[in-house]
Amino acid sequence: MCGIVGVIGNPQTKDILLHGLDKLEYRGYDSAGIFLADGKTNHLVKSKGKIQNLKDKLTEEINGTMGIGHTRWATHGVPSETNAHPHTSESGRFVLVHNGVIENFDELKTNFLAEDTFIGETDTEIAVHLVAYFAEKEGMTTKKAFRRALKEIKGSYAFALIDSEDSKTIYVAKNKSPLLIGLGEGFNVICSDAMAMLTQTDRFVEINDGELVFVHADGIQIEDQAGHEITREAFVTQLDASDTEKGMYPFYMLKEIDEQPAVLRRLAQTYVTEDGQTTIDDALLTHMSQSDRIYVVACGTSYNAGWATKHAIETMTGIPVELHVSSEVGYRLPMLSKHPFFIFLTQSGETADSRQVLVKVNELNLPALTITNVAGSTLSREATYTLLLHAGPEIAVASTKAYTAQVTLMNLLGKALGMKLDRQEARDFDIVHELGLAANAMDTIINEKEVIDQAMAQLLETTRNAFYIGRGADYYVAMEAALKLKEISYIQTEGFAAGELKHGTIALIEEGTPVFGLITDTLTGPHTRGNLKEVESRGANTFVIASEALAKESDQLVMANVHEFLTPLVTVVPTQLIAYYASLHRGYDVDKPRNLAKAVTVE
Ligand code: F6R
Repeated sequence: MCGIVGVIGNPQTKDILLHGLDKLEYRGYDSAGIFLADGKTNHLVKSKGKIQNLKDKLTEEINGTMGIGHTRWATHGVPSETNAHPHTSESGRFVLVHNGVIENFDELKTNFLAEDTFIGETDTEIAVHLVAYFAEKEGMTTKKAFRRALKEIKGSYAFALIDSEDSKTIYVAKNKSPLLIGLGEGFNVICSDAMAMLTQTDRFVEINDGELVFVHADGIQIEDQAGHEITREAFVTQLDASDTEKGMYPFYMLKEIDEQPAVLRRLAQTYVTEDGQTTIDDALLTHMSQSDRIYVVACGTSYNAGWATKHAIETMTGIPVELHVSSEVGYRLPMLSKHPFFIFLTQSGETADSRQVLVKVNELNLPALTITNVAGSTLSREATYTLLLHAGPEIAVASTKAYTAQVTLMNLLGKALGMKLDRQEARDFDIVHELGLAANAMDTIINEKEVIDQAMAQLLETTRNAFYIGRGADYYVAMEAALKLKEISYIQTEGFAAGELKHGTIALIEEGTPVFGLITDTLTGPHTRGNLKEVESRGANTFVIASEALAKESDQLVMANVHEFLTPLVTVVPTQLIAYYASLHRGYDVDKPRNLAKAVTVE
């Protein structure tokens, strides 16, 4: 979603801001803009569409030693140059960028501003006009006016504000939206995602909700809501600038698909010692072992990863697992057991829908674990416990390696918890060995990706719709496979429980409809074959992905057998490649599908 960058005290400000915006592109946006100042001249440049359009407008003369930049993903108001950030006050003195949503902007407009003050349709504009109102009409200092405006604003925000009469400060505040201060040598930076500023620094300072930060070239000052000064140490990020590069790959998505076997091996090494002991915090396992029901809360691909591990966790631990879509339980929690334990699965750690549930869980003083790829992310900081996915930055909007990392880590957690509970089913699962086999099986599919490339050129180049079917674990992978295919190829795809087709959806099958059958489950595989016959006899073009033990000669893709808990890890890989090649053959930008954002920080 929207991204923020800022720099103070550096003559290369323009280049640093533009590089930062490039690095934030992956989050999804539809317009961009920057404001540059040097104490004498100010420049505001905005454009609709790609960052390149913005770059095209920036002549040599436009420069500055301080500035702020923004990528906007439209929420209130269409994507346009007017609605793009930064926004300025009527006098032009105050300039501001914003991530998040201001819920009471209509009310604030009525209470404080004249009818004609607004020039665009965004909720953001209110913030800059409010600061100007308190500073210019009520005579407050900028600091006081900003603090006063924040008092009035309800909703989520990360703000960076410049008073063009003060070239020594960028004013920063956040509530529910991520924002970091990066510490450079003789200058400082601001970013909504550390990835934007990794070429400038690896030292970052976190900001908490409600704090006000004054960023200067030679230091920062943090104040709490009451105006008391706070000191906070910087942390050194583990992210490496090279992890965010595509290298030889045409798209990040292909790179991230290829990285998956390595991620599995890394997770096994991180969470299991050489003598087979878990490294997962014993306090977390003790807490979980006392629970009578595990509630997994997530969205999209992370939600699908939760389903793919329900059976493994229940089998190994004997504790029932319930799955919930975050946005469905944000306002009304599900009926809770006596001793519930919540797990939040989230690649980004910033998803607003999931955070909303965590806030409720925290209010009830219930224990929660966040499983995330981003150390220091909001959901990580606010949950009782965190486990990291160690998948490396995931930049393609379509999630791949985060899904397999989540499935892997949930299995590692299930095994550790099952062992803590002294369960035979956990003892019987030699997870490090089995993960090794799963990683090898993934490698084999990845090395033969050309088969999928060729097949998809024929099967999916022009189709309007498609189906994935399977039962049990195969059904859960079908859900994820369908999501992946639709989000990057725009083919309307359903992931369906194979046996359920005949109860209605089979009516959609016509001559040539592509139907992918997933067959890895010994118990239900033969029945899925029966369902494939039913669709074939109604004209469907079937493509079967089966594990060796259940494969038939006519199957298009055969995968090595792996432990039943881990089959989703392997089955999902060909489906990711199917989506990738379908998108490629249809001529789309694989990494940046339309309308989507990488971290969904609005409700
Ligand atoms: C799909 C995808 C999304 C995310 C969802 C949750 O490829 O990436 O469906 O899985 O927006 O995001 P996180 O996991 O960051 O909470």
